[in-house]
Amino acid sequence: AIERTLSIIKPDAVGGNHIGAIYSRFEEAGLKIVGAKMLHLDDEKAGGFYAEHKERPFYNDLVSFMTSGPVVVSVLEGENAIAKHREIMGATNPAEAAEGTIRKDFASSIDENAVHGSDSAESAKREIAYFFADNEVLDRTR
Ligand code: CMP
Repeated sequence: AIERTLSIIKPDAVGGNHIGAIYSRFEEAGLKIVGAKMLHLDDEKAGGFYAEHKERPFYNDLVSFMTSGPVVVSVLEGENAIAKHREIMGATNPAEAAEGTIRKDFASSIDENAVHGSDSAESAKREIAYFFADNEVLDRTR
């Protein structure tokens, strides 16, 4: 089925000037960018996004990393988009990421791992709505 998923290009990958390379991976995989914005998250916006991790030991480091510089948040659309996006990102820990994945090629550690992607249909719906108003996700079927 055609799905939508949320992508975040994180501060390490934006700082490394890899936005275009990562967008190319999405497009080469057949994912269409149907929403896009560059943001510098504050503690409240980043903390709210990762609220499910609030009790995890890495939460404070995660929020400070995600607020350390600009990010690019995008909505990707395509056949099986949620799983396809996760496949091209690679494992959360770049040390475990497969050859040719975004994290293998652009991430340096589990904490600074270049990209985020929604992990399920439920989180995609919540995460897209967290960053995008309905009229900021566009119809690219025409
Ligand atoms: P992300 O997909 O953005 O979701 C939460 C982030 O927490 C994750 O990517 C990692 O960058 C970071 N993180 C740090 N340590 C861990 C860990 N042990 N397990 C999962 N995520 C972690």
